[in-house]
Amino acid sequence: MGLLKSFFTNCANPQGRMGRAMLRFMNLCHAPLTNWGLDLINIKDGWTMLDVGCGGGATLKRLLKRSRGCQVYGIDISQESVEKARKVNAEWIDKQVHVTQGSAEYLPYDNNMFNLVTAVETIYFWPHLPNCLQEVRRVLKPGGKFAILVEVIDSDSKWTDLCEGMTAYSPEQLKKMLDEAGFVMTEIHRKKPSNATIIGVKP
Ligand SMILES: C[S@@+](CC[C@H](N)C(=O)[O-])C[C@H]1O[C@@H](n2cnc3c(N)ncnc32)[C@H](O)[C@@H]1O
Repeated sequence: MGLLKSFFTNCANPQGRMGRAMLRFMNLCHAPLTNWGLDLINIKDGWTMLDVGCGGGATLKRLLKRSRGCQVYGIDISQESVEKARKVNAEWIDKQVHVTQGSAEYLPYDNNMFNLVTAVETIYFWPHLPNCLQEVRRVLKPGGKFAILVEVIDSDSKWTDLCEGMTAYSPEQLKKMLDEAGFVMTEIHRKKPSNATIIGVKP
């Protein structure tokens, strides 16, 4: 595998030195998408929020800044991501920010716990996506929102060729899957060139 390909394969499960470099890179590069996507959600003070596939923890920090008195949870399959997310949020860790290693397939949280669940640039790697969407629905409170933020959509094979194990979906496919998983009022928002935020609500 070429150097570039092995670097980008760390998107799926950051590990070791290259994984740490990738996490630093993603914390910076995903800022425009994440800030735009979070601006679409009317985040309220005191919310309990979860970021699935939290990577290096920049989204956790952004959520924390947008809601006074909130509790923010992060989960990621990679131990490297968990360590970086804890470091980035060291000041608030185990007080307002809680980071756990685990998979979107089995979320270790109670039913009806979160006002908001976010997934930034990670849905591409989730196995059995319909099952993961059911898990997200289970942990959301009724009326809670799930926001999927992506910048790689199905027409863009440059990234799926570079990242092993990556599947790109169109915003319409994601909306259909959310509807099938029982979400309602699903909205697609787009920003050029290929940024999309898909937001569904748990009834
Ligand atoms: C491209 S990175 C994005 C990280 C972060 N959300 C960001 O915007 O910088 C994808 C992340 O999803 C995580 N991931 C992949 N599969 C996962 C799964 N099944 N459950 C939870 N996290 C997963 C990876 O370990 C990686 O940290």
